[in-house]
Amino acid sequence: MTALSSDDLTKLQHKADHSLAQVTTSRQLEEWRVTYIGRKGLVPKLLRTVKDLPAKKRRLLGQQANELRSRLEQQYQLKQAVLRRDRDAVPLPVKQAVPLTKLSGMPQPGHLHPLTITLRAIQDIFASLGFMVVEGPLVEEPEYNFDLLNIPPQHPTRAETDTFYLTDGHILRTQTSAMQVRVVREQQLSPPFRLLFPGRVFRAERTDATHETTFYQFEGLVVASAISVADLKGTIEVFYSRFFNKAAQVRLRPSYFPFVEPGYEVDLQCVFCTGKGCRICKHTGWLEVMGAGMVHPVVLRNMNIDPEAYSGFAFGGAVDRLAMLQHSIDDIRLFWSGSLDFLKQFS
Ligand code: PHE
Repeated sequence: MTALSSDDLTKLQHKADHSLAQVTTSRQLEEWRVTYIGRKGLVPKLLRTVKDLPAKKRRLLGQQANELRSRLEQQYQLKQAVLRRDRDAVPLPVKQAVPLTKLSGMPQPGHLHPLTITLRAIQDIFASLGFMVVEGPLVEEPEYNFDLLNIPPQHPTRAETDTFYLTDGHILRTQTSAMQVRVVREQQLSPPFRLLFPGRVFRAERTDATHETTFYQFEGLVVASAISVADLKGTIEVFYSRFFNKAAQVRLRPSYFPFVEPGYEVDLQCVFCTGKGCRICKHTGWLEVMGAGMVHPVVLRNMNIDPEAYSGFAFGGAVDRLAMLQHSIDDIRLFWSGSLDFLKQFS
């Protein structure tokens, strides 16, 4: 038998390490113990050969061999503890497992609500067309919301089913049109002027995919000398062209709003199918987008403006409707749902 060397010890250590790494059961561990450090194992056998070595080598190799033995014994104990822990461990129920990836990293920054994003885009376009943007109160006097807009007391939109009444005689405004007479009077404006009234309105309605009790409108009011329906149509077309970033066409359908004469429903040629007919325009080729008309002489007079000298147009549409078209959102209620799954898509 060749004489023992440090090399042999290193090789043995590697072999032991390697086979210990394969051990996964206490039975295998016991086999490992018998093979390497048991009484008849490789290490004790090796130790017994140390005494036969020449004195010079004996001390060093004896020491190294003893170290190897105690190292392997330690490894044995460690492995035994690990196997015992694995056996006794109660697996964490999946629900309680801590999602470590969520604990690390930066806090998530917030972002604007989709309605705010759309509202700002609308304001920017009208501001660039010379409109002054004015916000007003949500709690309104019925005079501004109805009477001064030529809406007679028995008009259906006043019925309690449509309007939220406060106990002190105020209402929650049902339309941004309430701003028309209010602003012109308060600011003592005289023509020419171009105004945009963005903001929230409220209606006591049963909600469904296209109706909410709370939504946003944007309303335009332009008064000057010799303003015509052509100006109304042109302005609206420029707005939608910029908003959807493609040439827009609108058509005016006669309709009735007490504060305009003539009054119209504004239809926008479907921006998705360019009038051919698709699911979004319900195969009509047109999207109903706003109410509009020439400011009624009674309303002009309520603004202290002479209807013989000046004329104007007004229009009002829902911001929510535009945001829905813009992002193919099929339920208006999502805007107020607080659903993060919905909102995060707009970050
Ligand atoms: N205020 C009307 C509505 O809420 C829209 C409108 C505004 C119509 C201005 C004509 C002129 O339906």
